[in-house]
Amino acid sequence: MSEQATTTEGRTYPPDPELSKTANVRPEMLEQDLESFWDEQAKQRLSWYEPYDKVLEWDQPYAKWFVGGKLNACYNCVDRHVEAGMGDKVALHVVPDDGPDSSEVRDITYAELQRRVTAVANGLKELGVGKGVPVGIYMQMIPDAVIAMLACARLGAPHTVVFGGFSGKAVAERCNDLECKVLITQDEAMRGGKAAPQKTNADEGLDASPTTVEKVVVVRRTGADIPMSDRDVYLDDLIANASDDPESCPCEPMESEDLLFLLYTSGSTGKPKGVVHTTGGYLLGCATTHNLVFDVKDDSVYWCAADIGWITGHSYIVYGPLANGCTSVLFEGVPGYPDQEVWWKIIEKYGVTILYTSPTAIRAHMKAGEKHAQAHDLSSIKILGSVGEPINPEAWEWYREHVGGGKAPIMDTWWQTETGHILITPLPGITTLKPGMAQQPFPGVRPEIRDDEGNQVPVETTGNLVLTQPWPGMMRGLYNDDQRYRDTYWSKYSDAYFAGDGAKYDADGDIMLMGRIDDVVNVSGHRLSTFEIESALVEHADVAEAAVAAKKDPDTGQAIVAFVSLIGDKQGTEELEQALREQVAQSIGKLARPASVIFARDMPKTRSGKIMRRLLKNIAEGEELGDTSTLVDPSVVEEMQKQVNG
Ligand code: PRX
Repeated sequence: MSEQATTTEGRTYPPDPELSKTANVRPEMLEQDLESFWDEQAKQRLSWYEPYDKVLEWDQPYAKWFVGGKLNACYNCVDRHVEAGMGDKVALHVVPDDGPDSSEVRDITYAELQRRVTAVANGLKELGVGKGVPVGIYMQMIPDAVIAMLACARLGAPHTVVFGGFSGKAVAERCNDLECKVLITQDEAMRGGKAAPQKTNADEGLDASPTTVEKVVVVRRTGADIPMSDRDVYLDDLIANASDDPESCPCEPMESEDLLFLLYTSGSTGKPKGVVHTTGGYLLGCATTHNLVFDVKDDSVYWCAADIGWITGHSYIVYGPLANGCTSVLFEGVPGYPDQEVWWKIIEKYGVTILYTSPTAIRAHMKAGEKHAQAHDLSSIKILGSVGEPINPEAWEWYREHVGGGKAPIMDTWWQTETGHILITPLPGITTLKPGMAQQPFPGVRPEIRDDEGNQVPVETTGNLVLTQPWPGMMRGLYNDDQRYRDTYWSKYSDAYFAGDGAKYDADGDIMLMGRIDDVVNVSGHRLSTFEIESALVEHADVAEAAVAAKKDPDTGQAIVAFVSLIGDKQGTEELEQALREQVAQSIGKLARPASVIFARDMPKTRSGKIMRRLLKNIAEGEELGDTSTLVDPSVVEEMQKQVNG
C-alpha cells in the first residue's frame, strides 16, 4: 500500500468547470441534513402508491426507511416510464457473447420490457409465485435475467440471484436457505465463445440433497438439447399463452420495508450470509447514487460491465439505471472475446457516455495494450466508474488516459453487498480527483476511521472503516440470523457499522481504502471467504487440514494460496495439486480456484491450536515472518517458505 501512496503523490485532477456547472449533484447537497436530503430525493425520484409518514426509524442496528409508504420496484423501473411516454426509449442495448457485430444484437425498449416482464410474471403466477414466495435465479448476462428479476419484483416475490459462475451446490444451498419454490435458469451459458451447462449444473446441485425447489424454469439461450425432467419447464412453453398486457398483471403494491431480494455473500466464517434488502430505501439509494455519481442525463448511454449475480449488477445494471429510465448496454460476454477490441467497439457503436467496471477488467485491458482502445472512437465517454477493489494508480491513470480521452473523471466508488449502494466516492464536478482513492462520503454518509479501541486514527494511519449514520439501502440484517448480523457488523463498536475494510485519511481528509481486514479475499473484485475455500479443500479424501491466504496479484488484485496438510503418509504431487484446485472450482466456482497449493506437514499453530493466519499471509507474499516464537513447531513455516520461494 505504501507503493500506492508514492505513485499518487502530488497528482490531482480538479473538476472541469463546465461539468461543475451542469452536474446533477449540487455542492449544497453535502451540507443537507440526512433525513431532509433523502426525503427530497424520495419525492423527486420514486413513484409511491401511498406516501410514507416517516422518513427514518432508526433502532440500531435496524433501520426502517419511508415507513408507511407503498411502492413497487418494477413499476418504478418499467411501467411508469412507459406511462410517461418513454415507451420507445431503449432500455437495454443487448450485446451477445460474440460482440456488437453479431447478428443477435437487439434493443429492448421500455415498452417491450414492460410486455416481456408482464408475460414472465404471468407465467410465474401459474407456478404459484406471488407476494412473498421466494424465487431463485441462476443465469448469466442475458436480458431474461433482468426480466426475471423485474417479474419477481412485479409480483412482490423476493428473488435471490446466484452468480452464474457458481456451482450447482451453491445454487441449492442458497435456494434451500431462502426456501425458494421456483428456480429460473437457462439451458446453457455462452461466455467467451464457449457453451457451459448452466441447467445441468443447477440439477446437480438440486439433486444432491432434498430441496425446496419444486419447479425449474429454463430459458432457451443456445437451444441445446438438454435433459428435462417433470420438475422442468421451458419459459417459452410456460408463457406461450400468457398475456403480456400490463393490465393483466398489475404491479403489487409493497410496503417500503417489504423484502425485495436476498443476496448471499461470503463472510469470514460459516456459510454464506443472506443479506436482506428491502424495497423503498434500497431502490431510492440506487436511483439517487446512480443519477448523481454518474451524472446521468436523459440521453446518457450507460454501461455497467458487472454481472447481475453480484450486488453491482443488482444496483447498477437493474434497479438504479432502470429506475432512472436510463438507456443501458447489457453485454453477455467477457473482455477479450471475440477479440481484444470488443469493449471499445461496443462503446463506439452505442456512443456509451458512462462506463462502470472493475479494476481487474481495467488491468486486463491495460495488459492487452492501449492500441485496441485507440483504434476506436471513444469520444462519447463522459464519466468513468470503478468498483469492487482498490484501484491501483497506474490502472486509474491508464483508464482516464486511454478510455476517458485524458479528461473523463473517474468515480472510484466504495460500497458493499451489505451497503446496497455507493457510499464513498468522488462526485462529478465537485471533487478534485486523486488516483486510487474513493475519497469522500456521499451526502448523508458519515464514515470514520477508528483504531481497535474506538479512537479515530490520525492522518495517514490505517484503521477500521465504520459508518456512524444509517443510509437508505443498508442491509436490513442477515436472513434468519439476527445474532450473526449483530456480531459481524455491530459488536466491534457499540455505535457504528463495522465495514470490515481498512482505510486511512490523507492530510486533505480524503479516504483511501486499504482492502479487507478479515478473512475475506477479493479475486478480480469477487468476494470469497477463506473459510469456504478451506471447507472445499478438506472435502478431498487426502486432505487432513487446509488454510488459505491471499497474496497480491498484478492482474486479479488478490490470488488464493492454499496451504494443505495430507493424511497419513500421502505425498503432495502435481496431480494432487491439480485435483485440489479442481475440487475448489467444482465446489464453489472457477473463480475460487487456488492459484497455488503448498503442501505442508502441519499448519503453523499456536499452543492453543489456533492457526496463525498472519504467518500464512506473510509466507504467501514472500515477506519476513517476524515473531514465530509462539508456534508449537516453527520449522513448519520454514518448510512452507522454502516451497514458496523455490
Ligand atoms: O473490500 C471492499 C471492496 O469490496 C468489498 C465489498 O465486496 P462486495 O460485497 O462483493 O461488493 C463489491 C461491489 C460493491 C468491500 O468491503 N471494495 C468495493 N469497492 C471498492 C472496494 N475496495 C476499494 N475500493 C473500492 N472502490
